[in-house]
Amino acid sequence: MRDTADAFDGLSPSLGLELLLHGEITVKGRLTAASNATLYCEVSDGAHSAACVYKPVAGERPLWDFPDGTLAGREICAYAVSEALGWEVVPPTVHRDGPFGEGMVQLWVHGDTTVDLVALSRETGNTALRRMAVFDAVINNSDRKIGHLLPTPGGHLYGCDHGVSLAEDYKLRTVLWQWQGQPLAEDVLERLAAVAEQLQDADSALARVLDRHLTGPEAYAVRSRVELLVHHGIHPYPAPDWPAVPWPPV
Ligand SMILES: Nc1ncnc2c1ncn2[C@@H]1O[C@H](COP(=O)(O)OP(=O)(O)O)[C@@H](O)[C@H]1O
Ligand SMILES: [Mg+2]
Repeated sequence: MRDTADAFDGLSPSLGLELLLHGEITVKGRLTAASNATLYCEVSDGAHSAACVYKPVAGERPLWDFPDGTLAGREICAYAVSEALGWEVVPPTVHRDGPFGEGMVQLWVHGDTTVDLVALSRETGNTALRRMAVFDAVINNSDRKIGHLLPTPGGHLYGCDHGVSLAEDYKLRTVLWQWQGQPLAEDVLERLAAVAEQLQDADSALARVLDRHLTGPEAYAVRSRVELLVHHGIHPYPAPDWPAVPWPPV
C-alpha cells in the first residue's frame, strides 16, 4: 500500500477516520455535477482539518431501482467491504450526523490531476485498478465511471461514489470490463476467501455493518457474490439484460 497522506491533507487514513468521526463539519460548497446533494466540506477538530464530502440522507433523490435503505448506508457498506478486502479502494468514510442531518462523510482525495483518467481506465496491467474491478463485482457497483477513479500523487488508486451499489440482483455497470473471463490472481482469491469466511459469521464487523444498512436479501447477496467469485475464480461477465457501462461513462 502506498502512502496516502499526500491525498488527505497530510493525515494518515486512521487519523483521518478519527477526524471524520469527531470533527466539526463546515459546508464549503455543493459539487454541481452531482445529482444528489453532495457537499464539499471541511472537517476540523482544532488540531487537524481536512477536506471531505458530505452526503446527507435528506438530500437523496428516490431511485426506482434502489427503493430500500439509503445511498449513504450503501457507501458505508462499500467502505466496510473495501476495508475487509484490505485493498483500500474507498477513502475513509463514516456514518454520522452533520449540518443537514445524518449522512455519509468521506475524506476528500486530493488526486493527481496529471493522470489521464481515460487512459488509466483502459489499463490492463494495473493491479490496483484490477482489484477495484473485483471490489466492484463484490459490491455490485452500478456506477463505476471514469470520473469515479481517484489516483493520488503517491500512486495509490481510490474510487468514489458507491451509493448505487449492493443491489440484490446482478447490476454490475462499469467501465472496467477489460479482464472479463480472466482468472483472478491468487492473492485476490485469498482475500475473497477471507471475506467469505467473515460473512459466514453474523457477528463479524463486516456482517454487522451490512446488516445495519442493507435488507436481508441484499446482505445475503454480498456473501453469494463473494462465494461465486471464489468458486469460479474468474472476473465476471456483463449481464445480458442490463446496460454494462454507465452513462455517461465519464
Ligand atoms: N472522496 C472524494 N475525493 C475526491 N473527489 C470526490 C470524492 N467524492 C466525490 N468526488 C468528486 O465529486 C464528484 C461527485 O461526487 P459523487 O460521489 O460522484 O456524487 P454523485 O453521487 O452525486 O454522483 C465525483 O465524480 C468526484 O469527481
Ligand atoms: Mg457520481
